[in-house]
Amino acid sequence: MTRFLTPSKVGILVLIELYTEAIVPTSSTLPILSFILNQLVPATVRSQSRDPTSSQTLPFILDLKAFETLLAAHAAASGLPGRSLWDHFLKKLWEIDSLDALHTFFANRTNLLAKTRDEIKKDSESGIPPPPEDSIVLSRTSPFGSFVRRSKVEFERLRFSDALALWKAFTRWREGSRTYWTRRNGGLGRWAGDRALEDGEEEWGTDATELLELVAYGGLSLEDETAGSVSTDDVEKLLEFQVEQMQKLGNRVPPEVRDKFQSILGESIMIPSLSHYLNFLDAWRAGDYPTSFDNLHRYFDYTMQNRDRLFYQYALMNLAVLQADFGCFDEAVAAMLETVSTARENKDMACLNFALNWLYHFGKAHPDTIKGTDSSNMLGVEREGLAYLRVKAKETGMWTLWGSSLLSEAKLGMSNGESIATTFENMLKSSQLIVDKNMKTMMGPQLAMYSSMWARLGISHLSRQYCQIFLSCHARYTLFDDTLRFTCRLAHLLTEKGRYDEAMEKLDGLDENSLRSWKANQYWLRYRGVIRLKRDLRRNQLDGADQLLSQLLQFTGTDIDSDLAFEINILHIEYLTRRTDYRAALAKIEQMATGMKEDGDDLNLQVKLLTMKALLQGKCGRPQKGFSVAVRAASIAWRARLIPSLWAAMGAVANILTSLSEFQASAQILIAIIPRALEYENCSLNAQLYSFLVDAFMGMAGQAEAGSIKRKENLTKCLEYIDRAFSQYSFIEDIKGQCEMMAKKATIMRVVGEKVLANDYAGAYLDLKKEAALAQV
Ligand SMILES: *[C@@H]1O[C@H](CO)[C@@H](O)[C@H](O)[C@H]1NC(C)=O
Ligand SMILES: *[C@@H]1O[C@H](CO)[C@@H](O)[C@H](O)[C@H]1NC(C)=O
Ligand SMILES: *[C@@H]1O[C@H](CO)[C@@H](O)[C@H](O)[C@H]1NC(C)=O
Repeated sequence: MTRFLTPSKVGILVLIELYTEAIVPTSSTLPILSFILNQLVPATVRSQSRDPTSSQTLPFILDLKAFETLLAAHAAASGLPGRSLWDHFLKKLWEIDSLDALHTFFANRTNLLAKTRDEIKKDSESGIPPPPEDSIVLSRTSPFGSFVRRSKVEFERLRFSDALALWKAFTRWREGSRTYWTRRNGGLGRWAGDRALEDGEEEWGTDATELLELVAYGGLSLEDETAGSVSTDDVEKLLEFQVEQMQKLGNRVPPEVRDKFQSILGESIMIPSLSHYLNFLDAWRAGDYPTSFDNLHRYFDYTMQNRDRLFYQYALMNLAVLQADFGCFDEAVAAMLETVSTARENKDMACLNFALNWLYHFGKAHPDTIKGTDSSNMLGVEREGLAYLRVKAKETGMWTLWGSSLLSEAKLGMSNGESIATTFENMLKSSQLIVDKNMKTMMGPQLAMYSSMWARLGISHLSRQYCQIFLSCHARYTLFDDTLRFTCRLAHLLTEKGRYDEAMEKLDGLDENSLRSWKANQYWLRYRGVIRLKRDLRRNQLDGADQLLSQLLQFTGTDIDSDLAFEINILHIEYLTRRTDYRAALAKIEQMATGMKEDGDDLNLQVKLLTMKALLQGKCGRPQKGFSVAVRAASIAWRARLIPSLWAAMGAVANILTSLSEFQASAQILIAIIPRALEYENCSLNAQLYSFLVDAFMGMAGQAEAGSIKRKENLTKCLEYIDRAFSQYSFIEDIKGQCEMMAKKATIMRVVGEKVLANDYAGAYLDLKKEAALAQV
C-alpha cells in the first residue's frame, strides 16, 4: 500500500489539468470543482458546509464510473464539437501509456503551478516567455496547488517497485474505459495504452508479446481488484470519517462496511492507531466491555508514546465515560476526578469544563455514588455549580457546554416546580445560542425540553409537534439516542390515545443499523415491552401482563433510565390494583415515595404517586382516608403548574366529595376541569373524570324526589356522561371500564323503568364480560 498515491488520485490530477487548460466550460465549473474539492478537503471541514443532497453518494474509492457520471454530462468548451469532458479526460488518461509516461506526467505537474519569483526571473533570463495572462495557474498554497505539489513529491519518493505497482494498478483501474476509448478512436490496436508492448510487437511477434504481458502484469485476476487502489492516506481519512460519524450519530459501523474495511486494513503493514479507537467505539456500542477496554488502552498506549502526555486527560475521560456506561460507577467517578486534576495541571479548560459538567449530570443520576466521594463539594451546591459551569463555558467559548448548562438550569427549575417564566427564559437563551452558533447537535436536548414543558402544561399537541419537528428536521444531524427518545415519546403519546399499532409501527420503523448499538437496543426493547404491557393491562389480559412485568421489573435497577423505571413501577402498581391486591399496591407506592424523598426527585412524579394513593384508598372503599393526600397532590401540582397532574388530583378530590354526599360541589369541580383536561388527550384520564361525573349526577338524582323532573333530568345527564366515558374507554380498549359503564347504564334503565333497554344493556355487559374472560384465556 502506498502512502498517498492511487490511480484515482491520478484521475483527480488529470481533472485539475483539464480545468487549468480551460476546457471546462464556465457553466460546469461548479460541479467539477466541488467534485475535486470533495476529494481534497478533510472530511471534518467538508461535513460542516455540505448540503445533504450532493456528493454523499460518491464511493469511497473513486472508480472510473464516478468520473464518467460527472464528466459525460458536460460538453467541452473547446476542441472538436460533440466531444464531452469525458472524452478529453480519457484522452489524457490514455496518453499515459508507459511507466515512463507516468514519470513525465508527474514531472510535468509543476507546469500547472504559478511560478515563483525566482523561476520567473530564471525563465526570462533563458528567454522562455511568461505564460499568457489569461491562463489558469494554481497558487502554490491553494488546496489544488498543495495537492499537486504533494502528489509530485510523493511520486518522486516512491521506490521503483511501488511506482511499478502504481502503474499496474493504474492500468487496471483504467481498463473499464477501454472499449469506449477504442470505439471512439476507431482502429486502436490491441496494445493501446502500452507503448512498450505496442512497439515491441513488430519485433517479437504477437505470441511473445502476450507472454511478456502476462509476465509483466500477471493475470488480471479479480481477487486483487482493489490492490494498489487504496493508500494509507485514504485509510486514515476513512478512519477519521468513521470515528466522527460514530461520535456524531452514536451508531455502530455497518457490518458490510466493517468487513470491507478489515480486508483493506489487512493489506497494510502499518495499522493506524486510530483504528484501535474505532474498534474501541464499536465494541463499546456493542456492549462488549472487555474488548472496548482493551482497545482504549491500546489506542492511548500508542498515541502516548508518539506525542507527549498532553492528551492524557482525554484517555482518562474516555475511560470514565466507558466505565459509567457499563455500570462501574465508583471506578468511573475516580477516573473522572483524576481527569479533573490532570486537566487542571495541563491547563486544559475545555476538558476540565466537560469533566465538571459530566460529574454534575452523573451526580444527578446517581446521587448515592457521588455522595461517597468528596466530589460533591467540588461544584458546591447544585445551583451554584451550574452557574459556575455556565460562566466558565462562556469565558472559554465552549458554546455546547454553555447551552447545555442553560438547559440544565431550565430543567432543574422545571423539576423543582419553580417559575415557568424563568424556565422559559433559560430555554430561550439556549435557543438563541444554538441558532447563533449553528449547533445542530444541541437541537435534540432543546426540543426535548420544549416538548416536556408543554406536556407539563397540559398542551399535548404542542408537545407532540416538537417531537415531530425534531424527527423530520433535525434527526439526521444528531445522536441516534435523541431520535430514539423522541420516537418513544411519540409512541407514548399515541398509546395514551389507544393507538397501539401505530405506536409499535413508529418504534419498528427505526433504523436497524443504529439499533445494533447495545444501549439503544435495550432501551428500545424495554419501551416496546412497556407499550405491550399497557395494552395487556387495559385489555385485562393479566397473565400476559404478569409475564411482561416479571421481565421488565428486573430492569428497574440503577442501570436504566429513571423515567422508564418509574413508568414500569407505575404499571406494576396498576397491575396489582387490577388484581385487586390493594395492600401490595399501597406498599409499593409507599416504597417508591420513600425512595423519592431522599433524592429530591421530580415533583411531577411525586404528585403522580400521591394521586394514585388517594384513588387507591377510594378503591379500597374508604375514600375519605385519601382526602389530605389528594388535596396535597392538588396543591403541589397547582404551585408547580403541573396541569395534567392537577386535573387528575382534582378528580380524586371530587371523588372524595361524592363519597361525602357533596354531589353538587363534586359536579362543579368536574365540569370546570373536564374541558381543559380534554386538551391533554389522555383517554384514561378523560374516562376516569367522566365516570366520576356520572357518580356525582347519580347522587344528585338520588337526592331529588322519586319521579320528579329533577331526578329524570339528572339521570339523563348520567346517561350522556356514561356514553362519553364508555367511548373513551373503548379508544384505549379498556375492557373493565367498558363493563363498568354498561352495568351502570343497565341499572339506570331499570330505575327509569325501561325494562327492554335495561335488558339490552345487561346483555351487552355480559358480552363484554365474556370477551374479557376470553382474552384472559
Ligand atoms: C512536459 O513539459 C515539457 C516542458 O516543460 C514539455 O516540453 C512536454 O511536452 C511536456 N510533456 C507532456 C507529456 O505534456
Ligand atoms: C394519563 O392518565 C392516567 C390516569 O390519570 C395516568 O396514570 C397517566 O400517567 C396519564 N398519562 C400521561 C402521559 O400523563
Ligand atoms: C339534579 O338534581 C338537583 C337536586 O337534587 C338539582 O338541584 C339540579 O338542578 C338537577 N340537575 C339537573 C341538570 O336537572
